[in-house]
Amino acid sequence: MTELPFSQACENNKAPILSALTPLLADSRHVLEIGSGTGQHAVYFARHLPGLRWQPSDQLQYLQGLSARLRREATSNVAPPLQLDVLAPWPVAALAEPIDAIFSANTLHIMSETMVEAFFAGIGNYLHSAALQLLVYGPFNYQGKFTSDSNADFDLWLKRNNPESGIRDIEWITDLAAAQGLGLVQDLAMPANNRLLHFSRAHAGGLQRL
Ligand SMILES: C[S@@+](CC[C@H](N)C(=O)[O-])C[C@H]1O[C@@H](n2cnc3c(N)ncnc32)[C@H](O)[C@@H]1O
Repeated sequence: MTELPFSQACENNKAPILSALTPLLADSRHVLEIGSGTGQHAVYFARHLPGLRWQPSDQLQYLQGLSARLRREATSNVAPPLQLDVLAPWPVAALAEPIDAIFSANTLHIMSETMVEAFFAGIGNYLHSAALQLLVYGPFNYQGKFTSDSNADFDLWLKRNNPESGIRDIEWITDLAAAQGLGLVQDLAMPANNRLLHFSRAHAGGLQRL
């Protein structure tokens, strides 16, 4: 049997992310995940949120491993993964029904700044639901400052691998989202100095930092 791609970080963070996502996705039906990676999050969240249809996606080079995990482990509410590179046209014609939520974990610090801009431009260009929610998980900075020494070390490590990677400022991400009509409604603290940023088109009124 082929060995599946595996992330220990996913195993560690999936339960706290699920606890935070569950109330936020209570009114959502169809979630597009961008940068699904190993598929561990897709399998786990879809199994625990059976009222949702979960649409995984990733770049071409991840699709083989991702598909293998989904074939082996996914519940029937997980759709076959789509090829989605934020720099290319998004495969929206392949979606069975409109997307009303987007989830993306540990992607914005891997993407270059150009890719992060394309991530938000793509949301504006392709996803038109007035109820759209965006949930972004990962490490973030405030006004250029790291929230922990471990995040500063992680940023150095990222940049050694790829100088275009790096932990992003929440203020920049919030501006990019606002340009697509998505307001930051919650900035939730998560274990290991991560955050879950909750943006919404419908409730863009105010920010809670928890
Ligand atoms: C560190 S992995 C995170 C995977 C998974 N979400 C997780 O939390 O374990 C970063 C992900 O970002 C995706 N990514 C990087 N650049 C991308 C791009 N241009 N378009 C779409 N996804 C991209 C990678 O393919 C990869 O799946």
